[in-house]
Amino acid sequence: MDDRFNTIAGWTLFSGIVGLGLTIASSMYFQADKHHAPETAGYAVEGVAEEGAGGGDPPIATLLAAADVAKGEATFAKCTSCHTINAGGANGIGPNLHGVVGEAIGQGVGGFAFSDALKSKGGNWSFDSLNDWLKSPKAFAPGTKMTFAGLSKPEDRANVIAYLNSQGSNLPLPAAEAAPAADAAAAPAEAEAAPEASEAAAQ
Ligand code: HEC
Repeated sequence: MDDRFNTIAGWTLFSGIVGLGLTIASSMYFQADKHHAPETAGYAVEGVAEEGAGGGDPPIATLLAAADVAKGEATFAKCTSCHTINAGGANGIGPNLHGVVGEAIGQGVGGFAFSDALKSKGGNWSFDSLNDWLKSPKAFAPGTKMTFAGLSKPEDRANVIAYLNSQGSNLPLPAAEAAPAADAAAAPAEAEAAPEASEAAAQ
């Protein structure tokens, strides 16, 4: 009787130890397999410029060199609910915009009641300031009366500015610095294309 009890107790203890050992061993095994989060999330893609770095938008001079007046006139449809652009045209919700490029900011000639925000800006409408203004009127002149969200696409802005310029201003476009900037802008695109090219070569 005593003997048997010891045998049973022995086997029970033994199996307990084996079970414990397996548990520890398997937990060590699966621990090794556990995924550890990398320090920085996401994959770095070489040759692709980071968004937001360096302002993002190409310089307005570069965009104006490729701007399309006819497309700008089409985009100007978003402005005609508030603006006329013909010579001597009436002010509406916004001022008449004939010859606005190069004109003093927020002064106009047709007696439009500009907001203090725009009146106090100073300077003339240049291609650069128009680009900033049309990107976000609110950011350019906080408190402006122009309740227009802005044109988010740089190309749309360049086209509209080229159109504005063709309506009574006709200032020379700032084309001189465009060439090197265009090259710099093209470089990342080439780098992006490179892996595809080498992939194609490998096939
Ligand atoms: C909802 C009406 C509205 C729309 C749409 C609108 N504007 Fe205006 N705009 C105004 C008002 C109002 C002002 C005067 C702003 C002030 O005094 O703060 C203004 C001012 C301007 C000025 C400055 C004029 C000056 O003599 O200083 C320019 C340039 C201009 N708008 C261009 C545009 C263009 C281009 C578009 C279309 C892409 C557009 N606006 C769309 C209402 C509008």
